Amino acid sequence: MTENTDRPPQDGPTRKALFKAALAAAPTAALLSGAAAAPALARDRAADGTTLEPTPRCDDGDDPTPPQMEGPYFTPHSPHRRDLVVPGDPGVPLTVSGYVLTRDCRPVAGALLDFWQADDGGVYDNTGYDYRGHQYTTADGAFHLTTVVPGLYPGRTRHLHVKVQAPARPVLTTQLYFPGEPRNGTDWIFDPRLLMNVRDHWGRRAAEFDFVLNHTG
Ligand SMILES: [Fe+2]
Repeated sequence: MTENTDRPPQDGPTRKALFKAALAAAPTAALLSGAAAAPALARDRAADGTTLEPTPRCDDGDDPTPPQMEGPYFTPHSPHRRDLVVPGDPGVPLTVSGYVLTRDCRPVAGALLDFWQADDGGVYDNTGYDYRGHQYTTADGAFHLTTVVPGLYPGRTRHLHVKVQAPARPVLTTQLYFPGEPRNGTDWIFDPRLLMNVRDHWGRRAAEFDFVLNHTG
């Protein structure tokens, strides 16, 4: 299956663009030493757009993204695609974008991200590959997923599943969450460190999350 590289239209400078600009403008050594302005990454901003904390220096050793259980619905060998939308299926359009970084803030090129999720009705496709797909980060460590907001199913709050792996490194299996969900407070697996920044935009939802893998350069 071919990879879908469609991207949503951009209506202004994004953090991705700023990060790219920072990478292009500063030698890597300068960027890592903190001599250049640190890129504003998704993890630095709360869901309402406010800054969570002073932007960490790029070399201060960030906390790695916490792992979470795989759950019973992972299927190996998902298709290579960035767009999981099933034509004709209901659901609120959702994009998820961000970066895969090392603990010392180096972007990871060619990192594998394998996403799987329930459909709008809270059902997993356990016989085929609907709402399942893998992709690789670009040279600047970026990824972009196009899908629909996953539905709820008994016992869980709203979430996405993902496996992330830098080349020749261990697999990080985790889950991503949506802010403001009533069930976030009752789902014992829920971890606020895995909340995405989510914006509603004309009936669509745009989420951002940066993964920090537990290794350096
Ligand atoms: Fe799940």
